[in-house]
Amino acid sequence: MKAIEFKDEVLYLIDQRKLPVYEEIFECKTYKEVEYAIKEMVVRGAPAIGATAAYGAVLAAKEFVKDEKKVFLAEMKKALDLINKSRPTAVNLMWAVKRMKNVIAENSDLEPSGIYAKIKEEADVILKEDVETNKQMAKNGNEIVPNGATILTHCNTGALATAGYGTALGVIREAHYTGKNIFVYADETRPRLQGGRLTAWELVKEEIPAKLIADNAAATLIRDGKIDLILVGADRIALNGDTANKIGTFMLSVIAKQYNVPFYIVAPVTTIDFDIETGEEIDIEERSSDEVTHVYGNRVAPVGIDVYNPAFDVTPNENITGIITEKGIVKAPFKDNMLKL
Ligand code: MRU
Repeated sequence: MKAIEFKDEVLYLIDQRKLPVYEEIFECKTYKEVEYAIKEMVVRGAPAIGATAAYGAVLAAKEFVKDEKKVFLAEMKKALDLINKSRPTAVNLMWAVKRMKNVIAENSDLEPSGIYAKIKEEADVILKEDVETNKQMAKNGNEIVPNGATILTHCNTGALATAGYGTALGVIREAHYTGKNIFVYADETRPRLQGGRLTAWELVKEEIPAKLIADNAAATLIRDGKIDLILVGADRIALNGDTANKIGTFMLSVIAKQYNVPFYIVAPVTTIDFDIETGEEIDIEERSSDEVTHVYGNRVAPVGIDVYNPAFDVTPNENITGIITEKGIVKAPFKDNMLKL
C-alpha cells in the first residue's frame, strides 16, 4: 500500500478521511491542493506530512517554472511559507520545507527549470529515505519486543502515517513478521479515530492479531497486567525528550509509569526538534469543535456546547522508557544522548 505516490506531475494520496469505508485517491495537481490535503488531513502522520510537503514544492516549481527567475524564486518562497503553516505541531513538515528551501538556495545559480529538477530529485530522496528509515527503526525497535508480547498502541503510526512501513506500527509489523507471536491492542483514538479507522485497517490487511479498544479501556488493561509494552509515535520531540504526540498519549504514559509498563516512542531523527529544549516550546494544534461534537458527520453533542479540542499533548521525558530511532534507542539523559545522534 502506498499512501503517497508522485507520478506524471500529480501527487496521489490515499484519502485518509474516507478510510476504512472508502479506499479513495485524492489527486493534487497544485501546491494549494497539497496545502489543503495537509490542513484537512487527507494525509496525516508526521513523516507523511513531511514527504507530502516536499511534493508540494515540486508542484509549486512546476507551476512557476516558466516565469523569469526573480518571479520564480519569490513565488516559491510564498508557496513554501504557505505549506509550512498548514499544520503546526509535526516538525517533519517544517523540516521538509526547510530542506526544499535549502535546495533552492544551493542551486540559485541555475535557471528555474534546473531548480525544478533539483527539487523533484530531493522530494524523491525524502520519500525513499523515509521508508528506509522506518525499516531500520523497526529492526532497532524489534530488539526490545519480547516474544509473545501484548502491545498497546495509540493513533496511527503505520504505512499511512509515513512514506511506508511506519514508526510504532513498523516495529509491530517487524515483530509480527519475525515470528514473535505478538498481540496488539489499538486505541480507537478519539476524536478523529485514527486508531479505529486507520490502524485497525492496516492490522486487518496484514492479519496481525489485534483488538480495537475504546480509549477509556486502556487503563484497565494496563492495571490488569495485560499489556507488556506500549509503542507510540511522535510529532515533535524536544531536546530533553519531552514528546508531542496524538492527544491521549500523555494519559497512557502516566498509567504506564504507575504500573511499570515500558513506554517507548518510535520516531525518526527528523521528528527531533534540535532547536527546542523542552516540550513547553511545542505549538499544540487546536482543531475544530466539530471533531468532538460529531462522529462521522452525525451530531452527538447538543448545539450550543463549547468545546476544547487539542490535537496533541506532551508526554514528559520522565514517563518515557526510551526513544527508538533509526540510529539506535535513546534513553535518559535524553539531551546528552540525543545530541550524540
Ligand atoms: O493528527 P495526526 O493524525 O496527524 O496525528 C498523528 C500522530 O499523532 C502520530 O502518532 C504521529 O504523527 C506519528 S506518525 C508515524
